[in-house]
Formats: sequence, structure tokens, C-alpha cells
Amino acid sequence: MKVVTVLGARPQFIKAAPVSRALRQQHTEILVHTGQHYDPLMSDVFFAELAIPAPDDTLHVGSAPHGAQTGRMLEGVEAVLLRDRPDAVLVYGDTNSTLAGALAAAKLGIPLVHVEAGLRSGVRDMPEEINRVLTDRLSMLCLCPSAAAAGNLAAEGIRDGVMVVGDVMLDALLEAAARIEGESQRLAQFGLESGRYMVATVHRAANTDDPDRLDAIVRALGAVGTRECPVLWPMHPRTAALLEHRAVSMPQGVRVVHALGYLDMVAVLRGAAVAVTDSGGLQKEAYWLGVPCVTLRDETEWPETVTSGWNVLAGAVEQSIVDGVRGMSALGKAGRLHGVARDAYGTAGAAERVVKAIEALSIASPSRT
Ligand code: UD1
Repeated sequence: MKVVTVLGARPQFIKAAPVSRALRQQHTEILVHTGQHYDPLMSDVFFAELAIPAPDDTLHVGSAPHGAQTGRMLEGVEAVLLRDRPDAVLVYGDTNSTLAGALAAAKLGIPLVHVEAGLRSGVRDMPEEINRVLTDRLSMLCLCPSAAAAGNLAAEGIRDGVMVVGDVMLDALLEAAARIEGESQRLAQFGLESGRYMVATVHRAANTDDPDRLDAIVRALGAVGTRECPVLWPMHPRTAALLEHRAVSMPQGVRVVHALGYLDMVAVLRGAAVAVTDSGGLQKEAYWLGVPCVTLRDETEWPETVTSGWNVLAGAVEQSIVDGVRGMSALGKAGRLHGVARDAYGTAGAAERVVKAIEALSIASPSRT
């Protein structure tokens, strides 16, 4: 079986690592990197740390408005598919790279497999929601991380080719967590001590591109950083560029560092008292690692993290964020979350289940070449 995998953004490298390894045991994988993320700290470091094979094709699309960026990817991926004629195309998550891979495959009639299918925020104008809805609609195989995700698809009339396989990010996380050595040295490089700091990340367009929201987040992090405990903020380049452009100064108690590699990020998250984030991946990683989380959004695609008590939605309202951090920090310190189940996204082994599902698909629709 020959599979073309299309990826391009940081979380996709993490998700693809365990699946690529499982896939390549018996099949041929052609890896296409769209170049959506191109900074070494956003891309190369993940390939090196997670031993992801070098891409067979790199499209170098770089940053651009959504239409231009997606269009360039579509053209590049289509050329690869015409050249290699795979049995299936594999895409992950909800980025513009996901949508470009999905469109290219669907237009050529090549079976499309979507890993992390069925997630919904309910916010129709969110770029990721547009990418998810369209990709799921085009997919022959929707591989969902949870029963709720499969339920979302059923509500949209998508019932065929839907499977709940669990979350491949759990496979990646468990492997990284087992590999991390010298955790205290990793924390010491940032002047941190386990349990005595918070970690924050912000990159969603809804937060970064709205000065009122971004300023409220900065003020809230300053408030908790001075009154509770220091905040480490590994900063996405888009957030750094926007803050620099508006000459926003960082409050005391907030330490900004460059975006981190995966092992450092897992180590920093695992040692944190609370995570404050608008990232979907980090909400889940915090949940799995037993770190209380405050999410800087009004909704989440991962509602199980909230209903279990491990996550709270604070939006981008200064007081809500401060209250959220205090509340979650107190719950964490009191140990009140211990014993609360963290199994909403299945067990390890999702990567193998993904490969088995693709194998079954290729038996059902034999290669056209
Ligand atoms: C993208 C995804 C988002 C995902 C995130 C993970 C879309 C619509 N969004 O958001 O779902 O959660 O990746 O990080 O696909 N930039 C750099 N260097 C890079 C990449 C980006 O400096 O290597 C800067 C550029 O200024 C660029 C901006 O970040 O314009 C935004 O990058 P982009 O890839 O468009 O979206 P992300 O915010 O990274």
C-alpha cells in the first residue's frame, strides 16, 4: 500500500510521528511537507526529536493570507499525487495544510483519511472549523479520537467510514514522557522549579489578531505572574511578531522564551502548577499529564477536558483568566482532581489502529494503478 501524508504545521508533526512509524513497518509512505511552518523551531526540531523521516517533498509555501497559502499548497500536493498515484492520502487535524491535502485528494478521486476527525468548536468562522468541516465531508475514512467526535459527524449526516480509534497524540506524548531525562535540568535552564510556575501559550488568530483580547491576556498573565507564581511563555512567532509590532511590554513575572521543542515542552508542562493556553493540543496534554488547565477561549473542541474538571474556559477576559488560574491552582494543590478519570480519548495504540483502518480501506477499494 502506498500512502501520501500531507502535513505542514507543528501539531501535525507530533501526530504523524507515531503513525508514520507504524505505517512504514509494512507500507510505503510519501511525506509531503507543505512548508506552512518553516522556522527551525516550529518544524526541524520536531523532525529531529521525534525521528520523523525527512519529507520526500517540501512545498515551501510559507506564510500568506489563507486563500493564497491554501491555493499554493493545493497546487503542490496535486502535482505529487499525480506523480505518485497513492492508494490513500492521510491528513491530520485542522490546519490549512489539512484542507489543501484533502481537496487535492478528493479532486483526484483518491481515498482520503482524516485523523482527528469530528471535532467541532461550533464557531463557523474560525479558520480551523472551516478546515475541519470540509475535510470531514471529503474523507472516505473519518478517524475520530472520541465517541463525542463521532457523534458530531453523525449529527452532520456523516455515518459511513467513521471509526473511533483514540488519539494519536497520546501515543506521541507517552513516548516523549518516557524519554525525557534530566527533567530538573530542563526546567533549570528557564530558572524553574517543578510545581512552582505556570506555563502559557497563545497563538489562535482570535486572540493574537484582536489587540483587546491579547492585551487582556498579557495583563492577566502579569497579574498571576506577580501574585501567584512566575509564568513561562514559550511564544509562537505570530504572537511575538504582533506584540513586537505594537511594542507591548511584558509585565513582571512573565518570562517569554522562543517556541520550545517537543521534549522541552512536555517537560515544562509536566512540571507546571497550571497551564494557560489557547492550543487544542496543550489542553489534552495537560489533561493526560494531570496538570490543571485554563483555556483562553470561549469554547473548546475537547469538552471532555472541561466536564472532567481538569480544564476551565476563561475566554480572553482578564478577571476570568485570573480567577480561573486561582481556582485551578487551588484545586491542584488540594489534590482535589486526583482520582478524576483522564481516559476520554482512549488508550495508547491509536497509531496502530489508524494503520489497520487504512489497510481495511485499501482492501475495500483496491489500487487503481
Ligand atoms: C496554524 C494552524 C492552527 C494550529 C497552529 C499550530 C491554520 C489556519 N492554523 O496556526 O490551527 O493550531 O498552526 O501552531 O492552519 N510564522 C512564523 N514561522 C513559522 C510559521 C508561522 O513566523 O514557521 C508566523 C507568520 O507570521 C505567519 C503566522 O505565524 O503569518 C501564522 O502562521 P500560520 O501557519 O498561518 O498559522 P498558525 O498561527 O501557526
